[in-house]
Amino acid sequence: MLNDVEKTLLSCEQLNQIVTDLGARISKDYEGKNLLMVSILKGSVVFMADLMRAVTIPCSIDFMSVSSYGSGTRTSGTVKIVKDLDIDLGGYDLLLVEDILDSGLTLSYVRDMLMTRNPASIRICTLLDKPARRKADIKADYVGAEIPDDFVIGYGLDYDEKYRNLPFVGILSPRVYADK
Ligand code: IMP
Ligand code: MG
Repeated sequence: MLNDVEKTLLSCEQLNQIVTDLGARISKDYEGKNLLMVSILKGSVVFMADLMRAVTIPCSIDFMSVSSYGSGTRTSGTVKIVKDLDIDLGGYDLLLVEDILDSGLTLSYVRDMLMTRNPASIRICTLLDKPARRKADIKADYVGAEIPDDFVIGYGLDYDEKYRNLPFVGILSPRVYADK
């Protein structure tokens, strides 16, 4: 598995610092509000698990699964809800927790769809941001780190459903997908 990593982009220590800082900001901003953290599966599952423990105010959590990717490294633009939320959003201050904002097509679809369910507010927290590849008109309110246009894996992020269990974020060696 480690052979397929070209280079480490964010080490465990760096990720830990990023999550601690984001948790502190979110805890301050949502003081006295009705925070609902929504993890977009599966990529954000590791980030969510760490981030929710860095949040020091009361909060609820829920999960949603959408698919926009096949086995390639580029988004298809079509978003399908594979698993919807369990919680009724009325009155909640929603924080969408994502692994990476790339073209932004997935999140802008999800955000617009959830907006119709009348939450008190919606904001976006993404671990990684690739602004160079943005297609949709969307910006995250909380960004862990801006990264260049490389395909990254680990800490929840996959290529073809693999590498999610790497404890750090690395750049996938292009030879892994070059012949696909
Ligand atoms: P978007 O709709 O193009 O913004 O794509 C969002 C989703 O694509 C993310 O939630 C990831 O699941 C996936 N994705 C985008 N870039 C990468 C990457 O570099 N590595 C792994 N997954 C990625
Ligand atoms: Mg994802």
